Amino acid sequence: MKVWQQPLPPVYQKLTDAELRVRIDLARQALGSRLVILGHHYQQDAVIDFADFTGDSFELSRKAAEQKDAEFIVFCGVHFMAESADILTPEHVRVILPDLGAGCSMADMANLDQTLDCWAQLQDACPDQRIVPITYMNSSAAIKAFVGEHGGAVCTSSNCRNVLEWALTPLSTQPSTNSTKTKILFFPDQHLGRNTARAMGYPLEKMVVWDPREEFGGNDPQKLKDADFVLWKGHCSVHQLFRPEHVDQVREKFPEMKVIVHPECRAEVVQKADQVGSTAYIVKQIEAAPPGSQWAVGTEVHLINRLARQHPEQKIVVLSNCQCLCTTMYRIDLPHLCWALENLLEGKVVNEIKVDANTRKWALVALDRMLAIKGTGNPIGKTQPVGTMID
Ligand code: 13P
Ligand code: SF4
Repeated sequence: MKVWQQPLPPVYQKLTDAELRVRIDLARQALGSRLVILGHHYQQDAVIDFADFTGDSFELSRKAAEQKDAEFIVFCGVHFMAESADILTPEHVRVILPDLGAGCSMADMANLDQTLDCWAQLQDACPDQRIVPITYMNSSAAIKAFVGEHGGAVCTSSNCRNVLEWALTPLSTQPSTNSTKTKILFFPDQHLGRNTARAMGYPLEKMVVWDPREEFGGNDPQKLKDADFVLWKGHCSVHQLFRPEHVDQVREKFPEMKVIVHPECRAEVVQKADQVGSTAYIVKQIEAAPPGSQWAVGTEVHLINRLARQHPEQKIVVLSNCQCLCTTMYRIDLPHLCWALENLLEGKVVNEIKVDANTRKWALVALDRMLAIKGTGNPIGKTQPVGTMID
């Protein structure tokens, strides 16, 4: 059942930022070690200022899993991240999302009924094949549970290649013989799946896109059988805004500038970029770069602006002037954070994200498999820059 965000009590809308900051600080101090605040890199600065830990999806899921002593995790991110935190923490740790409207349009592009339907059709079309479902972290707990129950794993943009390599080895969780073809069903971001598979050397002809609204996902059954990757027809509305011509424009205007993009960008953009990697990878590359470095970055604008402020010795710009803002992440703001914390102080847990026991059991299997697989942060590979790997 979907629960909607109730309007905040009017007092929170009337407070100035300075007043909100003071009240949030007081609430944090009073809650002490009972509270841990996690903040995704795409959050606005005002919120990041209060985070005990910041990171990308992979880092934050690890941090959440470590919080055994806290009573509350306030997750400044989006719904699927808070769900994952609930799954990864012991029962007594309660996870709170300050605004229930902070969802993810990509995660909403795959639901369980569509997944069950897809699975049944794939078994029909490919009866002699071993199909391993892999879901991007950006998916509901129900999809993660499906994946866990069917021998697959979760991945993030930090470890996608490693997870796919794990899934494609015959020693994976499902029994197979050398002659059994392994096929990956990848949810819900077709771009992360395609970019990673291409970097691993798979040609585009070996990938099909699964449109959940069409029979056989809109594919010819023989093509479906021949494919190594079935990519769910989903995308990130933020990263899909970047286009190959944006890279061309940067090359023309700033020939010295390096283009670095997130693997949720479409393949044509990734192909033209100098580097591709998860949010944490992008952060690390820029932090390690010498003064005078120039970057055009293809990811969420709040992170890019923060990196530009933190590194005035470098030139850091957004890859294009499109509105690359994650509007749902942006819903987490000082009034909602203050409201959530002050309720905790009064003994009221608002906006708790709780995954039911059966879903949790299998989703945890899929998440634990992911956490056991080391990530490189660069789904394109350990040694090669992207431009040289993709034909
Ligand atoms: P990462 O945090 O894995 O880089 O993913 C980016 C994203 O879109 C989060 O929603
Ligand atoms: Fe979802 Fe994209 Fe926003 Fe991440 S950036 S939460 S994938 S819409």
